[in-house]
Amino acid sequence: MTPRLSRPSGLFRSTRFLGFTALGLALTTTLGSAQNVQRRMGEPVPGLNQFQRDLFEAGKVLFADNLDVLDGLGPIMNDVSCGACHNIPVVGGWGTNSVTRFGKAATGSAPFDPLAALGGTLLQSQTIDPPCAEVVPPEADVVAQRITPICFGAGLLEAIPEGAIQQNELDQPGFGLNGVRRMFDPIEGGPAKASRFGWKGGPSTVLSFSIDASLMEMGMTSVFLPNEQAPNGDTALLALCDAVADPEDGPDAAGFTRIERITHFQAMLAAPPQTPRNGMTGQPIFASIGCADCHRPHYMTGPHAIGALSGRHIRPYSDFLIHDMGSGGDGIVDGPVSETQHMTRALWGLNMRTSLMHDGSASGGTFAQNIDMAINMHDGEAAASRIAYQALPLADQNAIAKFLRSLGQAEFDLVDEDHDVDEFDWFFCLQQFNGPFPAVAHTADDVGALCDLDQDGDFDLVEFGAFQRAFTGQ
Ligand code: HEC
Ligand code: HEC
Repeated sequence: MTPRLSRPSGLFRSTRFLGFTALGLALTTTLGSAQNVQRRMGEPVPGLNQFQRDLFEAGKVLFADNLDVLDGLGPIMNDVSCGACHNIPVVGGWGTNSVTRFGKAATGSAPFDPLAALGGTLLQSQTIDPPCAEVVPPEADVVAQRITPICFGAGLLEAIPEGAIQQNELDQPGFGLNGVRRMFDPIEGGPAKASRFGWKGGPSTVLSFSIDASLMEMGMTSVFLPNEQAPNGDTALLALCDAVADPEDGPDAAGFTRIERITHFQAMLAAPPQTPRNGMTGQPIFASIGCADCHRPHYMTGPHAIGALSGRHIRPYSDFLIHDMGSGGDGIVDGPVSETQHMTRALWGLNMRTSLMHDGSASGGTFAQNIDMAINMHDGEAAASRIAYQALPLADQNAIAKFLRSLGQAEFDLVDEDHDVDEFDWFFCLQQFNGPFPAVAHTADDVGALCDLDQDGDFDLVEFGAFQRAFTGQ
């Protein structure tokens, strides 16, 4: 990690704060650092060695790098880099860009038709050569949008032991719950594994997802998926527009393919923070009305080739099972996943989100209003939980939204929520300073809790040192 010691800024030079700061550092040393500042969105997991950190940084560059035609872009694609879509609040994040899925709805005894021969179900909306443009064919009568989810914590999700997701399937306490795993054989080989990614459950390893996304979103072929997508299935047209030999991805001077490098970055991305870590009023209410029966909080990761991903306690808030969402479904059949089914979305990282649900349709309001809209779209297996939510007093509904806003919230970043820890945040937290023996402690629901690293109800000398480590500059 880049060292986060106090810069010799005006802020920390000022004599008014210098005394506190020095004393704070002294006290943190004697008390020991009660708790570490959590990694922010976009940072690497803690515990990597230098070699791994270098791979993370190199992968991050390529994740955001515009792919050239000669390196494999197109002929049809949805954008020019992974980071073109995954970029809020930083590279690897979520995005408002959506992709289009199409197909022909089931009628009578005829099942849903993915229109595979016409380029379905995923539309590639851009092209390197106008004659090759792909369009939604007139045969399609179902057209659905999917927004871009975060990649933060992707390697940690991959490291969830298979048995834990299997256990979720066996043990579904909620009324009417009938979730199932979506199994995938990793494209790179290895035993079948339950999906942990995507709105309807996609490839279940970070490498498989990257192989798939490289082809489907950017048109880059690889040894694993060596065939280009033909525009609306027209192979003659493809031949006209596709001048680069397949497979397009290959090893660089150090022996890593582009797909391997972007996989390094995603796999080592830290889990989104959650602040305050415990004690908010909304958390037990969320559990008591059945939200946590699908949005399951806790996992302990199993062994992983990247040691820093092993044996970690994570809180993604998903069972990683496919559930029937009734009227909340997108109408697209995706392998074994029906028109009305979706995978429980992991809720970590919600904090900076301004549109929710697969198509982003819960949007346009405040954070709490968007959450309310999203919950009201829960149907099918989630109907009982939604109805319980709707019966809650407004104060309890607001407490749930407030709790969900803590998912992805970084410590100290509170005044302006601009994804940094600057002097505005410092001045706010300083107002919370009430000495080592506070007269009035704040609760986990108060905004001051974001300044309270060790959650002892105050902002004191322990937090002074921690704030300095989190300070990202002016
Ligand atoms: C055109 C925008 C776009 C581009 C470009 C793009 N993605 Fe995505 N990404 C999405 C969307 C939309 C989804 C959700 C897909 C779904 O569930 O059907 C997604 C999902 C993902 C997920 C799953 C995250 C989760 O937890 O559900 C990963 C991982 C991912 N993308 C990696 C990549 C990589 C790697 C690249 C570059 C090779 C890439 N994406 C390029 C839009 C994009
Ligand atoms: C039956 C399982 C189930 C239950 C119960 C459930 N959810 Fe969900 N939740 C889902 C699924 C599946 C999605 C993804 C929906 C989609 O793809 O559009 C989701 C999505 C969400 C989202 C949007 C996430 C995003 O990234 O856009 C929020 C917020 C949410 N749920 C909150 C709740 C709350 C609060 C409750 C309790 C009132 C709850 N959920 C109960 C399955 C469930």
